[in-house]
Amino acid sequence: MTGPHTLTSAVLRAGFAAMLGKERRSEWLAAFADVPREHYVPSFYQQDGQGRWHKVSVGDPGYLETVYSDTALTTQLDDHGIPTSSSSEPRLMLTMLDALDARPGHRLFELGLGTGYNAALASSLLGSDNVVSVDVDPDLVHLARSRLARGQYHPLVFAGDGAQGYPDQAPYDRVIATAGLRRIPPALLNQAREGTVVVAPIGFGIARIVVSGNGEATGRFLPVPAFFMPRRTPTKGPDFATLETQAGRATTVPATDVLDRLKFLLSLALPGYHSCTWRDGTGETTGVGLWTEDGSTATVHVSGNVRQTGPQRLWDTVEKLAGAFPRGTPAREDFGLTIAPEGQRVWYREPDGPSWPLSAE
Ligand SMILES: C[S@@+](CC[C@H](N)C(=O)[O-])C[C@H]1O[C@@H](n2cnc3c(N)ncnc32)[C@H](O)[C@@H]1O
Repeated sequence: MTGPHTLTSAVLRAGFAAMLGKERRSEWLAAFADVPREHYVPSFYQQDGQGRWHKVSVGDPGYLETVYSDTALTTQLDDHGIPTSSSSEPRLMLTMLDALDARPGHRLFELGLGTGYNAALASSLLGSDNVVSVDVDPDLVHLARSRLARGQYHPLVFAGDGAQGYPDQAPYDRVIATAGLRRIPPALLNQAREGTVVVAPIGFGIARIVVSGNGEATGRFLPVPAFFMPRRTPTKGPDFATLETQAGRATTVPATDVLDRLKFLLSLALPGYHSCTWRDGTGETTGVGLWTEDGSTATVHVSGNVRQTGPQRLWDTVEKLAGAFPRGTPAREDFGLTIAPEGQRVWYREPDGPSWPLSAE
């Protein structure tokens, strides 16, 4: 049956795929043109200027237009209003799928099933028998499974920790993660083969590595910025109260460096860090706060005064990075990732250039 809603959806979807295809040719565009995103995102949450979330559902004004725009759609919030699942920005999804260099028949493992939209796109190109996808939230898996079935896709989807992979269907030719990782989970490397391409968000970047066997893999970060929801772990909040009792010390690194030019580097050096900014009445930044889940906290005033507390001296790490990169914003694509049995490290420019170990967590 074809109703007015179906027609609008088909027209919008065609325009959406054409928009995604404007800058590149990709075999994934046919999948974007084919798979109705609204089947996987029947509602989403939008935040107003006061930070309040509002649900937008099928039939609401602007619903379909937003679904077929290059927008990440928040689909689940926790009790504190923090997003815990979303359908990612389509252009970023396409970039990541392209980076997989996947062909029909390749077996794909996805960490982060979410709405099931990406799994549907993957099923459309690779064949759903070749797609395995996992989400940590059983309710999301249940919903995604029925939505996929409605689209005649039957990939293997299940609830669990994606970091464990799914050995029964291994080896995988391609691996994609759509939740933020701190390093490539060893189980996923064990379930790969020589030549497997892994595309995964690490820090505020997306690493693309190729497995070469013997527990080794190497590759570079894609040139695009990215933020993905990290795995949910219990965290300590920032300890601003202790900092208020300190006089602090001087720093020459501008507070705002952590908001822009050092942001990606910091996300690798301090995995999962949080930040906040303080502004004056005119909107100018007056200070920046940083904290990590072990309770380490630093605040920096734009005057150049820094205060730090907790097990890690967070601003000392920022100063070290600023010392290594005194000017400009280092390009993500100049960084790479090498995995060896002894550990995982990110390097700059060349595999034997300056490097930083990735956390074992
Ligand atoms: C950005 S959403 C994924 C989007 C999804 N690929 C789609 O097309 O809708 C990230 C998802 O990762 C899931 N996630 C978080 N930690 C996970 C884990 N350890 N294992 C598997 N999934 C996880 C979240 O529940 C969330 O649904």
